[in-house]
This record gives sequence, structure tokens and C-alpha cells, in this order.
Amino acid sequence: MKECVFDLDGVITDTAKYHFAAWKKLAADQLTLQLPAEFETELKGISRIDSLIRILNWGKIREHYNDQQIADLAAQKNDYYLKEIANLTASDILPGITTLINQLQEHDIQLSLASASKNAPFILKKLGLDDRFDAIADPAKVAHSKPAPDIFLEGAAEINLPPAECIGIEDAVAGIQAIKAAGMPAIGVGDPHELRQADEVVTSTAKLSFVLLESVWRRVNS
Ligand code: G6P
Ligand code: MG
Repeated sequence: MKECVFDLDGVITDTAKYHFAAWKKLAADQLTLQLPAEFETELKGISRIDSLIRILNWGKIREHYNDQQIADLAAQKNDYYLKEIANLTASDILPGITTLINQLQEHDIQLSLASASKNAPFILKKLGLDDRFDAIADPAKVAHSKPAPDIFLEGAAEINLPPAECIGIEDAVAGIQAIKAAGMPAIGVGDPHELRQADEVVTSTAKLSFVLLESVWRRVNS
């Protein structure tokens, strides 16, 4: 194992709840839709536009909106989201993540970020973690979003390492599928049943460690 590819939202910081709060507000204020709580899981790891299209399809109102209106709604959601995350600081880094980063770097493991979020560089900076990562894969540069492997492959390519030397960490079903499709062992953070396609699931980021990642990587590659 030479590289660890991290998802951001729900792995490094708990921004999934802020994404969902912003979608709920957009749906209620602009679309007169009340999003059920179950939607939060379904939107994890899904790009901004794809998330909006899922919501419009769910409300059976997709055909009422043209491309420009969809772009405007997505921009409005992002304004709500940016307000939600305005006060993010290093205290919002999830438990165990700083320790894990320290352990990985002590073992010369490269770190990259494979988030679907266009806000990822801004969020890493607010958390004070921007200089800890060797690469941040740009979601605007990849052709297919999660569950396609593209962003994880980009995370490996930016460091010039083959996917077989990497391991990925994700909280979303679409993200686990993306890691596996990239040919990397996948660590899930969350519900073991929901994330059963992962090679290992931890219920909290506090349970992540270099030793765990290394042992899963060896097991999958043996
Ligand atoms: C992550 C989140 C998704 C979000 C996506 C795009 O994958 O899990 O909920 O929709 O990023 O984020 P953005 O900040 O670009 O709207
Ligand atoms: Mg996530």
C-alpha cells in the first residue's frame, strides 16, 4: 500500500448533513417538495446536478425545467450550502482522521482526495488540511461521476501510482462501487449492511488506522 484515496463529505468531515439541509431548503422553497429523510443516503456521493435531477424525478417534475433553470437551481443550492458551511473549522474534522493522516504520512503513504464536490479545496482549507494532501482530484476533469471509477483513478494517476497500490475510503454506496471499479480495496464508513460491497466497514472514523488499512490492503491483494 502506497496511497490512500479519501472521500471528503462524510469521511473527513460531516458535511453530508449540510448538503442535505441545503437540498431540503431548495426543494421546499423553490420546488414545493418535502424531501423525506431517507433521501440523505441516496444523495451521498452524487454530483450536484445528478442530485438535483434525482430530486426532480422523484417529484415527477423533471420535464418542467430546462437546462438553464436546472443550472440556476443547482447554483441556488450551492449558495444555501456555502452558508451552512461558513463556520467550518478544524474542530469539524471527524474523530480519528487527523491521527490516521499522521500515521499514514509516518509510513510514507501518499494521500489524495477523490471527492465529487467542487467545494472540496475550499473545505480542506477551512479544515486546515489542504497542505496534508499530495493530490486533489478535480471532479470537473473526469468524464463519469461515482459510481464510475474515474475520480479514484484520477486520484491514483495524479501521484503516478497504479490503483493496485492504493486503498480507498468512502461513506457512500456509490463511492464504494467507484473504489471497487477502480480496482482498489474499499473501506466503508457507516452501516455495514448498507456498505456491504466494501472490503471492510467501520461504524466510525475513530476506528480507522494505518494498521487496519494495511491489513485490509494485504488481505485483498493476497
Ligand atoms: C459529495 C457529496 C454529495 C454532493 C457532491 C457534490 O459527493 O457527498 O452530496 O452532491 O459531493 O458537491 P458540490 O459541493 O460540488 O455540490
Ligand atoms: Mg461522502
